[in-house]
Amino acid sequence: MLKKEVADLLEQQINKELYSAYLYLDMSNYYYDKNLDGFGNWFKIQAQEERDHAMLFLTYLQNNDVCPKLGAIDAPDKVYNSFRDPLAEALAHEQYVTSLINAIYAEAMKANDFRTLQFLDWFVKEQGEEEKNSSDLLGRFDLFGSDAKSLYALDAEMGARTYSAPSLVL
Ligand code: FEO
Repeated sequence: MLKKEVADLLEQQINKELYSAYLYLDMSNYYYDKNLDGFGNWFKIQAQEERDHAMLFLTYLQNNDVCPKLGAIDAPDKVYNSFRDPLAEALAHEQYVTSLINAIYAEAMKANDFRTLQFLDWFVKEQGEEEKNSSDLLGRFDLFGSDAKSLYALDAEMGARTYSAPSLVL
């Protein structure tokens, strides 16, 4: 049985992941509106991944006899004034999500909850990848974003991103 402190954090993470999906959908909308459909596609797929993350937390709780309460998801309220803004925001957001995963990990460690630690290991690795992807994207935009032809090529490359289901199956 999960300790309440651990279960509560896992439950809150469902909401955080769904908010992440919302945030990325909002970024996707921004780019489609600016005719950068490749960037829009990239963030739409990112949103699908966040929804998957939420489902993994939900399923883990269900598998451990916890019925998660689902709270309201905040509306995304960021204002973007440049093509770079969402990329910088995405990196900051992933760093924040890493801090949330680390906090659950610390609570599970305190509780000697080895099952939850093993479940969270996937997310620890995933956050490393998410931060790297966001940071690489921002770095590449800073290199190429101000040149129209390079931006066009970067947008085309981002348009080729396809969805793949998470490697973690519960
Ligand atoms: Fe679910 Fe991008 O972290």
